[in-house]
Amino acid sequence: MLALGIETSCDETSAAVVEDGRRVLSSIVSSQIPHHAPYGGVVPEIASRQHVLAIRGVVALALETAGVGRNEVQAIAVTQGPGLAGALLVGLSFARGLAMALDVPLFPVNHLEGHLHSVWLSRATPLPDPPPLPMLALIVSGGHTELVVMRDHGDNLVIGKTVDDAAGEAFDKVARVLGLPYPGGPEIERVAATAGHPEALPRAWLRGTHNFSFSGLKTATLRAFRDHLSVAHRISPENPTGAGQSLPPEEIANLAAGFQESVIDVLVKKSINAAVEHRARSIAVVGGVAANGALRDRMRSASPVPLLVSPPEFATDNAAMIASAGFYLPATRAAIDVLPSLSLDQR
Ligand code: KG4
Ligand code: ZN
Repeated sequence: MLALGIETSCDETSAAVVEDGRRVLSSIVSSQIPHHAPYGGVVPEIASRQHVLAIRGVVALALETAGVGRNEVQAIAVTQGPGLAGALLVGLSFARGLAMALDVPLFPVNHLEGHLHSVWLSRATPLPDPPPLPMLALIVSGGHTELVVMRDHGDNLVIGKTVDDAAGEAFDKVARVLGLPYPGGPEIERVAATAGHPEALPRAWLRGTHNFSFSGLKTATLRAFRDHLSVAHRISPENPTGAGQSLPPEEIANLAAGFQESVIDVLVKKSINAAVEHRARSIAVVGGVAANGALRDRMRSASPVPLLVSPPEFATDNAAMIASAGFYLPATRAAIDVLPSLSLDQR
Protein backbone atom coordinates (compact mmCIF):
# COMPACT_ATOMS: atom_id res chain seq x y z
CA MET A 1 0.00 0.00 0.00
CA LEU A 2 1.28 3.48 -0.90
CA ALA A 3 0.51 5.93 1.90
CA LEU A 4 1.03 9.67 1.93
CA GLY A 5 1.92 10.98 5.41
CA ILE A 6 1.39 14.57 6.54
CA GLU A 7 2.82 16.08 9.74
CA THR A 8 2.31 19.66 11.00
CA SER A 9 2.12 19.32 14.80
CA CYS A 10 4.90 21.75 15.67
CA ASP A 11 7.51 23.58 13.62
CA GLU A 12 8.17 21.26 10.67
CA THR A 13 5.89 21.00 7.63
CA SER A 14 6.44 17.48 6.38
CA ALA A 15 5.08 15.03 3.80
CA ALA A 16 6.29 11.56 2.86
CA VAL A 17 5.40 8.56 0.74
CA VAL A 18 5.86 5.19 2.46
CA GLU A 19 5.18 1.74 1.04
CA ASP A 20 3.60 -0.90 3.28
CA GLY A 21 4.40 1.04 6.46
CA ARG A 22 8.14 0.56 6.16
CA ARG A 23 9.85 1.50 2.90
CA VAL A 24 10.43 5.24 2.58
CA LEU A 25 10.04 6.43 -1.03
CA SER A 26 10.30 10.11 -0.11
CA SER A 27 10.48 12.26 3.02
CA ILE A 28 10.30 16.03 2.71
CA VAL A 29 10.73 18.20 5.81
CA SER A 30 10.46 21.96 5.59
CA SER A 31 11.85 23.34 8.81
CA GLN A 32 10.64 26.63 10.28
CA ILE A 33 13.63 26.96 12.61
CA PRO A 34 14.88 30.24 11.07
CA HIS A 35 11.45 31.81 11.69
CA HIS A 36 11.41 30.82 15.38
CA ALA A 37 15.11 31.14 16.24
CA PRO A 38 14.96 34.90 17.05
CA TYR A 39 12.44 34.06 19.83
CA GLY A 40 14.42 31.12 21.29
CA GLY A 41 11.46 28.74 20.87
CA VAL A 42 8.43 27.93 18.75
CA VAL A 43 5.84 30.72 18.39
CA PRO A 44 2.43 29.05 17.70
CA GLU A 45 1.04 31.84 15.47
CA ILE A 46 4.12 31.82 13.28
CA ALA A 47 4.04 28.01 13.08
CA SER A 48 0.44 27.91 11.76
CA ARG A 49 1.13 30.60 9.19
CA GLN A 50 4.27 28.89 7.89
CA HIS A 51 2.44 25.55 7.61
CA VAL A 52 -0.25 27.21 5.48
CA LEU A 53 2.40 28.71 3.21
CA ALA A 54 4.44 25.50 2.88
CA ILE A 55 2.07 22.54 2.87
CA ARG A 56 1.00 22.49 -0.77
CA GLY A 57 4.57 22.62 -2.07
CA VAL A 58 5.84 20.08 0.47
CA VAL A 59 3.16 17.52 -0.47
CA ALA A 60 3.76 18.06 -4.20
CA LEU A 61 7.51 17.58 -3.71
CA ALA A 62 7.00 14.39 -1.67
CA LEU A 63 4.92 12.85 -4.49
CA GLU A 64 7.33 14.02 -7.19
CA THR A 65 10.41 12.72 -5.32
CA ALA A 66 8.73 9.33 -4.81
CA GLY A 67 7.74 9.20 -8.48
CA VAL A 68 4.15 8.67 -7.41
CA GLY A 69 1.18 10.33 -9.09
CA ARG A 70 -1.69 11.72 -7.00
CA ASN A 71 -3.98 8.98 -8.24
CA GLU A 72 -1.59 6.25 -7.09
CA VAL A 73 -1.89 7.32 -3.42
CA GLN A 74 -3.96 4.65 -1.65
CA ALA A 75 -4.24 6.20 1.83
CA ILE A 76 -3.43 9.40 3.69
CA ALA A 77 -2.13 9.44 7.27
CA VAL A 78 -2.09 12.69 9.22
CA THR A 79 -1.06 13.78 12.71
CA GLN A 80 -4.13 14.44 14.86
CA GLY A 81 -2.30 15.35 18.08
CA PRO A 82 -0.66 16.04 20.43
CA GLY A 83 0.69 19.36 19.25
CA LEU A 84 -0.17 23.00 18.65
CA ALA A 85 -3.89 23.25 17.83
CA GLY A 86 -3.51 25.78 15.00
CA ALA A 87 -0.58 23.92 13.48
CA LEU A 88 -2.36 20.54 13.62
CA LEU A 89 -5.44 22.06 12.01
CA VAL A 90 -3.51 23.06 8.89
CA GLY A 91 -2.26 19.51 8.22
CA LEU A 92 -5.51 17.84 9.16
CA SER A 93 -7.66 20.11 6.99
CA PHE A 94 -5.34 19.65 4.03
CA ALA A 95 -5.28 15.86 4.49
CA ARG A 96 -9.04 15.66 4.87
CA GLY A 97 -9.60 17.65 1.68
CA LEU A 98 -7.11 15.57 -0.30
CA ALA A 99 -8.49 12.25 0.99
CA MET A 100 -11.96 13.35 -0.07
CA ALA A 101 -10.76 14.47 -3.50
CA LEU A 102 -8.82 11.25 -4.15
CA ASP A 103 -11.48 9.08 -2.47
CA VAL A 104 -8.96 7.26 -0.25
CA PRO A 105 -9.16 6.43 3.49
CA LEU A 106 -7.79 8.90 6.04
CA PHE A 107 -5.74 7.61 9.00
CA PRO A 108 -5.60 9.97 12.02
CA VAL A 109 -2.30 9.33 13.83
CA ASN A 110 -1.08 10.08 17.34
CA HIS A 111 2.22 11.97 16.88
CA LEU A 112 3.90 9.86 19.60
CA GLU A 113 2.71 6.66 17.93
CA GLY A 114 4.45 8.12 14.90
CA HIS A 115 7.72 8.55 16.81
CA LEU A 116 7.50 4.89 17.93
CA HIS A 117 7.20 3.84 14.28
CA SER A 118 10.35 5.73 13.24
CA VAL A 119 12.27 2.50 13.99
CA TRP A 120 10.16 0.59 11.43
CA LEU A 121 11.30 2.91 8.61
CA SER A 122 14.09 2.15 6.18
CA ARG A 123 15.36 2.99 2.71
CA ALA A 124 17.39 -0.26 2.53
CA THR A 125 16.75 -3.33 0.37
CA PRO A 126 16.01 -5.86 1.72
CA LEU A 127 14.26 -4.26 4.69
CA PRO A 128 15.83 -5.05 8.08
CA ASP A 129 13.82 -7.24 10.49
CA PRO A 130 11.12 -5.30 12.36
CA PRO A 131 11.72 -4.61 16.08
CA PRO A 132 10.78 -7.53 18.38
CA LEU A 133 7.79 -6.73 20.64
CA PRO A 134 7.20 -5.93 23.41
CA MET A 135 9.50 -2.95 22.90
CA LEU A 136 10.48 -0.47 25.60
CA ALA A 137 10.58 2.92 23.94
CA LEU A 138 12.18 6.06 25.27
CA ILE A 139 10.52 8.98 23.50
CA VAL A 140 12.78 11.98 23.93
CA SER A 141 11.97 15.17 22.04
CA GLY A 142 11.51 18.88 22.54
CA GLY A 143 7.97 18.37 23.78
CA HIS A 144 8.01 14.85 25.28
CA THR A 145 9.97 12.54 27.53
CA GLU A 146 8.12 9.26 28.04
CA LEU A 147 8.84 5.62 28.70
CA VAL A 148 6.39 3.42 26.83
CA VAL A 149 5.91 -0.33 26.67
CA MET A 150 4.75 -0.98 23.10
CA ARG A 151 3.01 -4.36 23.22
CA ASP A 152 1.65 -4.11 19.69
CA HIS A 153 0.80 -1.45 17.11
CA GLY A 154 -1.74 0.77 18.84
CA ASP A 155 -1.36 -1.06 22.17
CA ASN A 156 0.91 1.09 24.31
CA LEU A 157 1.39 1.38 28.05
CA VAL A 158 2.86 4.70 29.19
CA ILE A 159 4.86 3.83 32.33
CA GLY A 160 6.76 7.07 32.90
CA LYS A 161 6.75 10.74 31.92
CA THR A 162 8.58 13.90 32.77
CA VAL A 163 6.97 15.73 35.65
CA ASP A 164 8.30 19.09 34.40
CA ASP A 165 10.51 19.83 31.36
CA ALA A 166 11.00 17.47 28.42
CA ALA A 167 14.63 16.42 27.89
CA GLY A 168 14.94 18.35 24.61
CA GLU A 169 13.33 21.40 26.22
CA ALA A 170 15.97 21.23 29.00
CA PHE A 171 18.72 21.07 26.36
CA ASP A 172 17.21 24.12 24.65
CA LYS A 173 16.82 26.13 27.88
CA VAL A 174 20.31 25.31 29.19
CA ALA A 175 21.77 26.19 25.78
CA ARG A 176 20.13 29.59 26.06
CA VAL A 177 21.69 30.14 29.52
CA LEU A 178 25.09 29.17 28.11
CA GLY A 179 24.67 31.59 25.19
CA LEU A 180 24.37 28.83 22.55
CA PRO A 181 21.90 29.18 19.64
CA TYR A 182 18.50 27.47 19.22
CA PRO A 183 17.87 24.54 18.89
CA GLY A 184 20.20 23.86 21.78
CA GLY A 185 20.54 20.05 21.70
CA PRO A 186 22.98 19.75 18.80
CA GLU A 187 24.94 22.79 20.09
CA ILE A 188 25.32 21.34 23.59
CA GLU A 189 26.47 18.04 22.12
CA ARG A 190 29.02 19.78 19.87
CA VAL A 191 30.44 21.96 22.66
CA ALA A 192 30.39 19.11 25.25
CA ALA A 193 32.64 17.02 23.02
CA THR A 194 35.45 19.56 23.64
CA ALA A 195 35.16 19.55 27.47
CA GLY A 196 38.25 18.82 29.54
CA HIS A 197 36.64 18.61 33.00
CA PRO A 198 32.85 18.14 32.89
CA GLU A 199 31.15 19.93 35.77
CA ALA A 200 29.58 17.58 38.37
CA LEU A 201 25.83 18.30 38.33
CA PRO A 202 22.94 16.57 40.15
CA ARG A 203 20.61 13.85 38.86
CA ALA A 204 16.90 13.53 39.75
CA TRP A 205 16.21 9.79 40.06
CA LEU A 206 12.55 9.95 41.29
CA ARG A 207 13.14 6.46 42.68
CA GLY A 208 10.28 3.98 42.74
CA THR A 209 8.80 5.53 39.58
CA HIS A 210 9.65 5.56 35.88
CA ASN A 211 9.17 9.34 35.81
CA PHE A 212 11.74 11.99 34.98
CA SER A 213 12.46 15.52 36.15
CA PHE A 214 14.88 17.94 34.51
CA SER A 215 13.96 21.35 35.92
CA GLY A 216 16.20 20.94 39.01
CA LEU A 217 19.16 20.11 36.79
CA LYS A 218 18.37 23.15 34.64
CA THR A 219 18.41 25.37 37.75
CA ALA A 220 21.61 23.72 39.03
CA THR A 221 23.31 24.40 35.69
CA LEU A 222 22.16 28.03 35.79
CA ARG A 223 23.48 28.35 39.38
CA ALA A 224 26.84 26.82 38.42
CA PHE A 225 27.05 29.24 35.47
CA ARG A 226 26.42 32.20 37.83
CA ASP A 227 28.98 30.87 40.35
CA HIS A 228 31.61 30.72 37.63
CA LEU A 229 30.67 34.26 36.55
CA SER A 230 31.04 35.61 40.08
CA VAL A 231 34.37 33.84 40.60
CA ALA A 232 35.52 35.49 37.40
CA HIS A 233 34.18 38.84 38.83
CA ARG A 234 31.75 39.19 35.94
CA ILE A 235 29.01 39.67 38.53
CA SER A 236 29.24 42.98 40.34
CA PRO A 237 26.94 45.11 42.53
CA GLU A 238 26.07 47.07 39.36
CA ASN A 239 25.19 43.85 37.46
CA PRO A 240 24.09 41.33 40.13
CA THR A 241 22.71 38.74 37.68
CA GLY A 242 25.69 38.84 35.34
CA ALA A 243 23.32 39.74 32.48
CA GLY A 244 25.10 40.01 29.15
CA GLN A 245 28.24 38.44 30.58
CA SER A 246 29.69 35.12 29.51
CA LEU A 247 32.41 32.64 30.34
CA PRO A 248 35.43 31.44 28.37
CA PRO A 249 34.60 28.61 25.89
CA GLU A 250 36.31 25.90 27.99
CA GLU A 251 34.09 26.68 31.01
CA ILE A 252 30.96 26.68 28.81
CA ALA A 253 32.08 23.29 27.45
CA ASN A 254 32.51 21.86 30.97
CA LEU A 255 29.02 23.01 31.98
CA ALA A 256 27.47 21.68 28.76
CA ALA A 257 29.21 18.31 29.20
CA GLY A 258 28.17 18.03 32.86
CA PHE A 259 24.57 18.84 31.98
CA GLN A 260 24.50 16.37 29.08
CA GLU A 261 26.10 13.66 31.21
CA SER A 262 23.44 14.07 33.93
CA VAL A 263 20.57 13.86 31.43
CA ILE A 264 22.01 10.82 29.66
CA ASP A 265 22.84 8.99 32.90
CA VAL A 266 19.23 9.24 34.08
CA LEU A 267 17.69 8.44 30.66
CA VAL A 268 19.85 5.35 30.16
CA LYS A 269 19.58 3.84 33.65
CA LYS A 270 15.84 4.40 33.93
CA SER A 271 15.21 2.97 30.45
CA ILE A 272 17.24 -0.17 31.16
CA ASN A 273 15.48 -0.71 34.53
CA ALA A 274 12.07 -0.33 32.86
CA ALA A 275 13.02 -2.71 30.02
CA VAL A 276 14.13 -5.39 32.50
CA GLU A 277 11.06 -4.94 34.68
CA HIS A 278 8.67 -5.24 31.72
CA ARG A 279 10.62 -8.04 30.02
CA ALA A 280 11.07 -6.02 26.83
CA ARG A 281 12.58 -7.85 23.86
CA SER A 282 13.98 -4.64 22.41
CA ILE A 283 14.69 -1.04 23.42
CA ALA A 284 14.05 1.93 21.11
CA VAL A 285 15.21 5.51 21.44
CA VAL A 286 13.08 7.84 19.34
CA GLY A 287 12.48 11.60 19.01
CA GLY A 288 14.78 14.53 18.34
CA VAL A 289 17.14 13.87 21.27
CA ALA A 290 17.84 10.38 19.81
CA ALA A 291 20.12 12.28 17.42
CA ASN A 292 22.50 12.69 20.38
CA GLY A 293 25.51 10.43 19.75
CA ALA A 294 26.55 10.24 23.40
CA LEU A 295 23.04 9.05 24.38
CA ARG A 296 23.04 6.42 21.59
CA ASP A 297 26.50 5.12 22.57
CA ARG A 298 25.68 4.87 26.29
CA MET A 299 22.35 3.15 25.62
CA ARG A 300 23.96 0.74 23.16
CA SER A 301 26.62 -0.41 25.63
CA ALA A 302 24.11 -0.72 28.51
CA SER A 303 21.22 -2.46 26.71
CA PRO A 304 20.74 -6.20 27.39
CA VAL A 305 18.42 -6.54 24.34
CA PRO A 306 18.65 -5.30 20.71
CA LEU A 307 18.71 -1.49 20.59
CA LEU A 308 16.91 0.43 17.86
CA VAL A 309 17.55 4.13 17.39
CA SER A 310 15.62 6.31 14.95
CA PRO A 311 17.83 7.04 11.95
CA PRO A 312 18.79 10.75 12.27
CA GLU A 313 16.51 11.84 9.39
CA PHE A 314 13.53 10.15 11.11
CA ALA A 315 14.41 11.10 14.71
CA THR A 316 13.16 14.67 14.47
CA ASP A 317 9.58 15.36 13.39
CA ASN A 318 8.77 13.91 9.97
CA ALA A 319 5.78 12.57 8.04
CA ALA A 320 7.30 9.18 7.12
CA MET A 321 6.81 7.98 10.70
CA ILE A 322 3.20 9.19 10.54
CA ALA A 323 2.60 7.25 7.29
CA SER A 324 4.09 4.15 8.94
CA ALA A 325 1.91 4.38 12.06
CA GLY A 326 -1.14 4.99 9.85
CA PHE A 327 -0.46 1.79 7.93
CA TYR A 328 -0.62 -0.32 11.10
CA LEU A 329 -3.65 1.39 12.63
CA PRO A 330 -7.34 1.59 11.72
CA ALA A 331 -8.58 4.13 9.18
CA THR A 332 -11.65 6.31 9.49
CA ARG A 333 -14.02 7.98 7.10
CA ALA A 334 -15.76 9.74 9.97
CA ALA A 335 -15.23 13.45 10.56
CA ILE A 336 -12.09 13.82 12.64
CA ASP A 337 -10.81 16.76 14.59
CA VAL A 338 -7.47 17.81 16.02
CA LEU A 339 -6.70 16.55 19.55
CA PRO A 340 -3.97 18.90 20.86
CA SER A 341 -3.64 17.03 24.19
CA LEU A 342 -3.87 13.46 22.87
CA SER A 343 -1.86 10.94 24.91
CA LEU A 344 -0.43 7.60 23.87
CA ASP A 345 -2.60 5.35 25.97
CA GLN A 346 -5.80 7.15 24.90
CA ARG A 347 -7.91 5.22 22.39
O1 KG4 B 1 11.34 15.45 17.91
P1 KG4 B 1 11.71 16.88 17.71
O2 KG4 B 1 12.18 17.30 16.35
O3 KG4 B 1 10.53 17.84 18.05
C1 KG4 B 1 9.56 17.58 18.98
O4 KG4 B 1 8.60 16.78 18.68
O5 KG4 B 1 9.69 18.14 20.08
O6 KG4 B 1 12.83 17.20 18.81
C2 KG4 B 1 13.49 18.45 18.85
C3 KG4 B 1 14.35 18.49 20.12
C4 KG4 B 1 14.91 19.86 20.42
O7 KG4 B 1 14.67 20.16 21.77
C5 KG4 B 1 16.41 19.69 20.16
O8 KG4 B 1 17.22 20.52 20.98
C6 KG4 B 1 16.61 18.22 20.48
O9 KG4 B 1 15.46 17.58 19.98
N1 KG4 B 1 17.82 17.69 19.83
C7 KG4 B 1 18.89 17.23 20.50
C8 KG4 B 1 19.87 16.87 19.52
N2 KG4 B 1 19.33 17.11 18.29
C9 KG4 B 1 18.07 17.60 18.50
N3 KG4 B 1 19.12 17.10 21.82
C10 KG4 B 1 20.31 16.61 22.20
N4 KG4 B 1 21.30 16.27 21.34
C11 KG4 B 1 21.12 16.38 20.00
N5 KG4 B 1 22.10 16.05 19.15
ZN1 ZN C 1 7.90 14.98 17.79
